[in-house]
Amino acid sequence: MSEVQIKLYYKNVTSQVIGAENGITPEDFGLLAEKTVPLIKQLNAERQAGKNSYRKLPYNKQTLQQVKGLVAKFKDRCHTFVVLGIGGSALGNIALQTALNPYMHNIDDKQRKGPRLFVFDNVDPPQLASFLNWVSDKLDGTIFNVISKSGRTAETASQLMIVQQMLLKKLGKDGFKKQVVATTDARKGTLRNIANDAGLTCLEVPDGVGGRFSVLSAVGLFSAAMCGIDIDGLLAGAGDMDVRVGNENFEKNPAALIAAINWHFYNHGKKIAVMMPYSYHLKDFADWYRQLWAESLGKAKDLKGTEVHVGPTPVKALGTTDQHSQVQLYREGPNDKIFTFLQVNNFDKDLKIGPAPDCAPELEYLAGKKLSKLLNSEKQATEYALLMDKRPCLTIIFDSVNAYSVGQFIYLYEVVTSIAGALFGINAYDQPAVELGKEATFALMGHADYRELAKKMKLFTSIDDYFLV
Ligand code: PA5
Repeated sequence: MSEVQIKLYYKNVTSQVIGAENGITPEDFGLLAEKTVPLIKQLNAERQAGKNSYRKLPYNKQTLQQVKGLVAKFKDRCHTFVVLGIGGSALGNIALQTALNPYMHNIDDKQRKGPRLFVFDNVDPPQLASFLNWVSDKLDGTIFNVISKSGRTAETASQLMIVQQMLLKKLGKDGFKKQVVATTDARKGTLRNIANDAGLTCLEVPDGVGGRFSVLSAVGLFSAAMCGIDIDGLLAGAGDMDVRVGNENFEKNPAALIAAINWHFYNHGKKIAVMMPYSYHLKDFADWYRQLWAESLGKAKDLKGTEVHVGPTPVKALGTTDQHSQVQLYREGPNDKIFTFLQVNNFDKDLKIGPAPDCAPELEYLAGKKLSKLLNSEKQATEYALLMDKRPCLTIIFDSVNAYSVGQFIYLYEVVTSIAGALFGINAYDQPAVELGKEATFALMGHADYRELAKKMKLFTSIDDYFLV
């Protein structure tokens, strides 16, 4: 591990800083260690037995070679890369792009190391129509990567059907085959059938890896590598974090500490978990985390089948933007939140603030200072203010944002989620509650297999004029 490691700073959740009523006491930490260490051991054993397949992703050389092979094949004839996917098939791709490519990637040819990237994770008609309008005369330089493990997700399927119609019309069957890459299950499912039928190039969503744990598989790696992101660095960071999160010494294991601290606060009335990056590059990782945490930990039943209805509510915020939007509530509203800041010590680019205008000598204190100093001072200031109101704060410290540290962060939070799942005693890898909404959509869209559900839904979906004002 020669690279600089991301670090967890957790003093500001302790009773030493925010008092025994709100903070974690040394005795509490002892109890948390007692509860968590057996779970780390259990997860390590499960992993040895081949379970939790996402843990193998940092070492999957075959996928790495396959992705690199496709990048070599497509790079020269691709100026625009489009991801069609949703949830775990999109949020990681977006987060990687925001983290590791410049803000102006899509606009400025000089700053771009690969094609432009667009990720469509919705079925908003004006949004997609505007894009298709722009891309329609550039289709032979555009690769569409449709990502869906199941292939039956209505949003992704309908996007694909729109794009397919356009490609067939403009470029014919061969064009559809040349411009579309499908990332899906190796053997089964609707997208697998479509891909086989059309002879599409395919990448695999590995067996046993759920969408929200799949960013380090072909799901996230292909768009990243196409856009010039160092995927070797990503996987190296994840692999090195794998060693740290397997540590059976509670105090040395950042994933165990984060999971246990969050679990403790959940059980002590702080059921909302705010992630607040102080870095534009990291802002979409708060979104990725939100899905990972919500879908994995929000569960009605525990592993024994008892109704528990647990799950911390993950909230994303952005420093400093949300200081001017949320911090009033965070400080003076209910003390029901734990805050996790993402802090960057060294930014890849920095700016010096210019001189104060003569008419505004009150701005002199800013003149000549680095913008990074202002950003990080604001993080410290906000944390200080929260601590004054006895709000617990964690910080994940990035020495810098690069492929290696981002890979570390991804793997860290995936394992945090597994350990938190074990602490809550729930299955972190399913999402049964998402299914009913998916099926109800099928029913409303006239799917023949869901006619009974459509009838049942009428009572709830037809508008009762009495209540319409
Ligand atoms: O994490 C998950 O499993 C979900 O968010 C899925 O990724 C999402 O529902 C999309 O599913 P699919 O890849 O089957 O289209």
